[in-house]
Amino acid sequence: MNPYTVLVVGMGKRGMHHATSFNANPRFKVTGICDIDPARLEAAAAKLGGPRTGTDAAALARELKPDVFCFCTMPHLRTPFIQAALAGGSRLVAFEKPVALTSAEALSIRAALRAAGVKAVVSHQHRYGPHYQKVKEIVASGALGRVHTVYGTATGWMTHMLSHLIDYTCWFNDYSPGTWAMAQAAGRVKLADNHPSPDYIGGFVQFANGVRGVYECGAGAPDQPEVGKWWGKNRIGAQGTEGFAEVLTNGGWRAVTKSGGFQSGDGAMSYDADMPPYIQGMADWLDNDARVHPCNLDHALIGAEIMLAMQRSAAEGGQVDLPLTAGADEQALLKGRLSDRPVRVSFEQNRKEFGLP
Ligand SMILES: NC(=O)c1ccc[n+]([C@@H]2O[C@H](COP(=O)([O-])OP(=O)(O)OC[C@H]3O[C@@H](n4cnc5c(N)ncnc54)[C@H](O)[C@@H]3O)[C@@H](O)[C@H]2O)c1
Repeated sequence: MNPYTVLVVGMGKRGMHHATSFNANPRFKVTGICDIDPARLEAAAAKLGGPRTGTDAAALARELKPDVFCFCTMPHLRTPFIQAALAGGSRLVAFEKPVALTSAEALSIRAALRAAGVKAVVSHQHRYGPHYQKVKEIVASGALGRVHTVYGTATGWMTHMLSHLIDYTCWFNDYSPGTWAMAQAAGRVKLADNHPSPDYIGGFVQFANGVRGVYECGAGAPDQPEVGKWWGKNRIGAQGTEGFAEVLTNGGWRAVTKSGGFQSGDGAMSYDADMPPYIQGMADWLDNDARVHPCNLDHALIGAEIMLAMQRSAAEGGQVDLPLTAGADEQALLKGRLSDRPVRVSFEQNRKEFGLP
């Protein structure tokens, strides 16, 4: 069987992870790469077996007609690459979290891909870590009794981390959709970042199956002293009537259940380990429509809508109904409404990471 051809756009950190992992899988071959930085492009081509290179993604897609169009660019660049993928006739689009910075863009991306009947996946690949898999296994086994709460905290800021937190809790909760969200936010420093975010956001979600979601992301979120790596201080879990199970991104997993007592194990997020199964899932889905990728866009959008509803609530107050029926510009809402009062940090390292005085 001929390998599926792939065009990768954005040859930064994540673009290189993707391109290398596609080429390492015999079901794929990277035939084109794109970046606006010619030096970066040349260096990448040398490591990837000399694919066709270019600085214009749309032109490359039209020329190469790749089966898979993959883009790994900053969060403000989404729609032009979705359009380029569709114009090039790709069968699957693979792109990075977050889905989009605004609900207006997220909803239009969904509409365009649905109208074209094109598959899409979003890179929430931490889930392949053995510690994440273990927590999912415990939750799914019923050992927690009736699950009533899922939760996630991260000290990294919203546009980097909240998408991950919500997606993995939605996985633990079998992707039951949200019905409303409510949140507060503080601090304007990271609004100017390339992952623009309030410095701290925290909120609640009602899921259709009655489960409560609780999220905190940014400088006010609690330390996880068991974890050294600052970006790995994420705690994501589920509580039920008979116990809890949770994963620490760079600190293993732990659980207490009625029948099993206290249990724990190792695990740390690893791109090298997590990318191969994420990539293989794309081959499986391209081969067979029934083998839907677990990181498919519909799953990612359940989380994206929650994340955007939390931002709307933080800007405008009150509970925001889900699913979102009309698009808005949540970035503009936050920039317009967020208070000037500086964020209060939960521990000193956050002050440094957020560049606070
Ligand atoms: N899933 C994860 O675990 C994870 C981890 C880190 C980052 N990310 C996400 O990945 C995305 C990219 O992050 P990164 O760290 O790889 O960024 P990066 O800055 O390392 O790479 C982005 C690349 O895109 C290129 N680029 C910019 N505009 C372009 C254009 N018009 N055409 C072609 N190339 C263009 C840049 O020159 C750069 O090389 C972000 O959305 C980020 O949130 C995900």
